[in-house]
Amino acid sequence: MDYKKYIAGRLKADGVSYDDIYSAIAVPPAADMGDYALPCFKFAKVLRKIPVVIAQDLAAGFAPDGVISGVQAVNGYVNFTVNKAYLAKEVLNDVLSEGAAYGSCSEGAGKTVCIDYSSVNIAKPFHIGHLSTTAIGGALYKIYKFCGYNVVGINHLGDYGTQFGKLICAYKHWGDKKAVQQGGIHAINELYVRFNSEADEVMEQEAREYFRLIESGDKDANELFDWFKELTLDYVNGIYKKLNVTFDSYNGERFYSDKMQPVIDELKQKGLLKESEGAQIVDLEPYGMPPCLILRSDGASLYATRDLAAAQYRKDTYDFYKCLYVVAYQQNLHFRQIFKVLELMGKPWAKDMVHVAYGMVSLEDGAMSTRKGKVVWLEDVINKCVEKAGKIIEEKNPDLENKEDVAEKVGVGAVIFGALYNNKIKDIVFSYDKVLSFEGETSVYVQYTCARAKSVIDKGGVPSCYTAEDITPQEAEVVKQLALFRSAVQDAAKNYEPSYVARYAVDLAQKFNKFYFDCKILTAEGGKKDFRLALTAATLQTLTNALTLLGIGVPDKM
Ligand code: ARG
Repeated sequence: MDYKKYIAGRLKADGVSYDDIYSAIAVPPAADMGDYALPCFKFAKVLRKIPVVIAQDLAAGFAPDGVISGVQAVNGYVNFTVNKAYLAKEVLNDVLSEGAAYGSCSEGAGKTVCIDYSSVNIAKPFHIGHLSTTAIGGALYKIYKFCGYNVVGINHLGDYGTQFGKLICAYKHWGDKKAVQQGGIHAINELYVRFNSEADEVMEQEAREYFRLIESGDKDANELFDWFKELTLDYVNGIYKKLNVTFDSYNGERFYSDKMQPVIDELKQKGLLKESEGAQIVDLEPYGMPPCLILRSDGASLYATRDLAAAQYRKDTYDFYKCLYVVAYQQNLHFRQIFKVLELMGKPWAKDMVHVAYGMVSLEDGAMSTRKGKVVWLEDVINKCVEKAGKIIEEKNPDLENKEDVAEKVGVGAVIFGALYNNKIKDIVFSYDKVLSFEGETSVYVQYTCARAKSVIDKGGVPSCYTAEDITPQEAEVVKQLALFRSAVQDAAKNYEPSYVARYAVDLAQKFNKFYFDCKILTAEGGKKDFRLALTAATLQTLTNALTLLGIGVPDKM
């Protein structure tokens, strides 16, 4: 039941539309103000009455029924109280019958969303700075699927550029096949870092030549390049597996090598390309932006050129409804430029491109630096978190079975949740103690609540039928929160904010825990026991669905 629809459908006022009423209905901050409220202030002009009177008139015309049990006019608001027993029955029935699908919808049917996320750089560290894009993108991927969209996850690999010439050069001078095979990405990154600190002009020249060889299809250079790429992908795929993220395409920058010319031609033909100091640019000064560089004076393409080609390719291939780029806010200008150039090219779909920007992540014990190899690898952060989770579990519950599996779910969950819980644009300082706290607003807290609910269910079972009567305030709060899940998911998709789902889960866990401590479940009298077991099962299901959308596993016991 959509209560807002129900209420809006029953309210009538001349000159005020259903949509006006529907969109004005909100959930008040405190339960004693009712479950839904309609502020009447903005109807005053049309109805030529003061809000207080409008609210009184509307309330007087709305007789309570089996769905809405109370209607009250207070200071220009009409407050509606939902019949708690009716709501409880309906919500529990929905959750328990829909199971893992509870909260999903079909609003995205027939629409494709491309999500460019994680987008790692070959032979470069996969560091803590990649955490947010991977966690946020991975969650959006699942959230959009849950909302019925067809989703294409794209890892726009950074696999193009002069740095690969440098890498080959470094390998030729100092590399060792076996050592690189064994050391993988760390070994190749070391070679690259060494090149940057030790290479002289002769080596720089050689590196440029190697890059040219890659570009011209030279077999030896390309074999090396492909090997470095493979080593990097093997490595990152291991981390993606841990973080429960997947991709449908690994078409990186290099993939667009032969797809840039048509875009350049089109820019030229549309009169957008200008020469400036030998380079080819699109002038964006009228839009308050520096020019978008398309070709350098030596004819080389740029990051932006490849992104323009990639955008066109994605439109042609997937005919997307939206194309998202989950990339740090440092690239704000880059994406504003790209989107503007596409708009100037007359692409109507330029408006469907979205830069989903997020803030920086740093560690509590020192800011990260990407220069000079002083980098915090994401893998190390995950491992440390899993290790710490293991220690905590060992302390709290030494007899627990599958301790390693639980530590993995708790530790990995904490890393993901740590990146997702805050509004994405905020810079965050990652603290191990904070993300692993059992008391805070953490995945651990939510997982622990799941384990608690599971243990109740294991003892009492899930009743096949139950009656909902004399709902207590604690029960009502849980029910109300359960009912909000679908809209939390939809809002998360609409605002590109997985944090909505994360916060929702913490709220539900808190409400459930209040209920758990205040109300007896297994020893409750009469029909109450069955109802409370059903409520517990529905909470477990909904928390599980929420965590799954974020890529976080749920241990049975903790
Ligand atoms: N590889 C880039 C980086 O690490 C991110 C790529 C984002 N995607 C894109 N289509 N530009 O900064």
